[in-house]
Amino acid sequence: MKSTYSYDTLFPIGNIDPKVWSSFTEHLGRSIYGGIYDPDKPFSDKNGFRNDVKTAVKDLNLGVIRYPGGNFVSNYDWKDGIGPKKDRKKRMDFAWSTVEPNQFGIDDFCAWAKEVGVEPMIAVNLGTGSIKSAAELVEYCNHDSGTYWSDLRIKNGHREPYNIKYWCLGNEMEGDWQAGHMSAAQYADKAREAAKMMKWVDSDIKLVACGSSYEMLPTYLKWDETIMKQLYPYVDYISTHNYNMNSGQGAQNFLASWKQLDDHIQNTKNVLNYSKSLQPKFKDKDIKICLDEWNVWNMQDIKMDSLDDLNGMTTFELTDAKKWEEHPAILQEKYSLLDALVVGGLGITILNNVDAVEIACLAQLLNVISPITTDEDGHLLKQTIYYPFQLLTEYGRGEVLKPHIESDTQSTDYGDIPVVETATVYDKANQQLHVFALNSDTKQSSTLALHLTGFKSINLTEHITFTGDDLKAINTFENPNNVIPTKLSTENESLDNLTLPKASWNVLTFD
Ligand code: AHR
Repeated sequence: MKSTYSYDTLFPIGNIDPKVWSSFTEHLGRSIYGGIYDPDKPFSDKNGFRNDVKTAVKDLNLGVIRYPGGNFVSNYDWKDGIGPKKDRKKRMDFAWSTVEPNQFGIDDFCAWAKEVGVEPMIAVNLGTGSIKSAAELVEYCNHDSGTYWSDLRIKNGHREPYNIKYWCLGNEMEGDWQAGHMSAAQYADKAREAAKMMKWVDSDIKLVACGSSYEMLPTYLKWDETIMKQLYPYVDYISTHNYNMNSGQGAQNFLASWKQLDDHIQNTKNVLNYSKSLQPKFKDKDIKICLDEWNVWNMQDIKMDSLDDLNGMTTFELTDAKKWEEHPAILQEKYSLLDALVVGGLGITILNNVDAVEIACLAQLLNVISPITTDEDGHLLKQTIYYPFQLLTEYGRGEVLKPHIESDTQSTDYGDIPVVETATVYDKANQQLHVFALNSDTKQSSTLALHLTGFKSINLTEHITFTGDDLKAINTFENPNNVIPTKLSTENESLDNLTLPKASWNVLTFD
C-alpha cells in the first residue's frame, strides 16, 4: 500500500505547547504509595521518594503532572494531607473504596514535582468540597505570607510559595460515580464562584473547567454548552477525558481508534466555537482544550457488567480488590505491543490537534493504567506504552505541519481512514523534521512517500520503529526489554519510498 504526504512549512497546524506532553497521578492503588512515595526503603530518598521513579519521570521531560485526582479528588480534603505525618487522619476514599492514609499531600507532591522538574497542575474538590476550601488551597500554596493558610505552609516547613499556575475545577462532575455529582447548571454556578474566589487569592492562576468526557452519557456536550455560557469569561481551558479500549474489536480496528479520539477532540472544538460565538464581549479570548486524561485502558480488573449502566453506577467495581484496603494493587494494567501502537496513534492525533489542545495528560503515570510500574523490592519496569510516549515527548517539540494526503484507505469501525496516519513536526531551531507514522495494516508493510515542498535538501538520518510479530507481547520484570523500539537502516530509503513495517509505529527524522 502506498501513501503520499505533501508538507510545506507554509501550512502549520500550530506550535506544540510543552504541556502537551504531561501526565497524571492520583491517590489510587499504588500510584502515590509504592509509586512516588515508598518511605523507609533503601531505594527511596530522605523524603520517602523513590529514586528510580524520580529518574524515569525526569527522563520523560513532562510539562505538568495533574494531582491528586481523578475521582479521588471529589471527596478529598487537602487539609488532611498537611502537617506532621503522625497526626494525619485515615479517611475513607469513596472513589475506589479504599482507605487513604494521608501520608502524602500537597506539600509532598510539590516537593516531588520540583525534584523531577515538572509543574504541578492541581485539581480542587468541587464535589463534596466547598468553594472556600478551594480558595484556601490557593492561599496555602500561592500566597507569600501573613495570612492563616500561607503562614501554616511556612510553619509546615515551606517558606516559599509554590506559585501553582494550573488548577482544575473538579473532576468528571458530569458522572454520578463522582462524589457530589451535580447537574451542568449547578456545576456552572459552583465553578464560577470557586473561580472568582480562587482568582481573588491569585489573579495569575489559569483555570480548567470540567467539561464532559463520556460519549455514552446523555449530557455529553450539552454539559459543555451549558457550563460555558457561564464560565467562558472565568476559565482558560475546558477539560475532556478519553480512554480507548480494545474490547475485542480486532487489531486492525483498534489501531484505527485514534480516529475516535480525533472525533472526540473535534466535538469539544465545535462546542467551544459555538460557546465563543455566544460571547461577543470575549471574541478575542480562545479557550483551549485540556485533555487531562488520555490513554489505552482495557479495564483488565474492572467488572465489565458494572460499566453497562455507567449513568447508574456509584463506583467502579473491581474484580479482585477487597474493600477498604490501603493502596491495594488495583488498575495495574499490563500493556501489550498492540496497546503501545494505539498509544502512539493517539499521540499522533494529539499532535494534529495542537491548534486546540494545549494540555494533554497521559493517564496515568505510575502503577495505575501507566507506562511505568514498580515492585515492592525497588525494581522499575517500563511498560510497552512507555516507549511511544517517551519518543513523542522527545521528538514532538516544535511546530506541527498540515499535510496534503493521497493515501490508500481502509474501512474500519471508525469509517474509511488512511492506512498510514502521520503527524509531522518541524523543529525550526535544529532544522529537523520528525515524521511520526502509524502503519495500521497488520498484514503487510506500507510505503510512504513524502513531498517536502518548501524545505531545502533534506535527508533521512534516523528511522526508529516499534513493531513485532506478536502484538500481544508485553514487558515483564523478568523480561523488561521484550518489546522495545529498534532503529532501522536508513541507507536504501529515499523520501519517495519509505518502508513502514506491518503494524508499526515509527519516528523518521530528517536533517
Ligand atoms: O484514571 C482513572 C479514572 O478515570 C479517574 O479517576 C477518573 O477521572 C476517570 O474516570
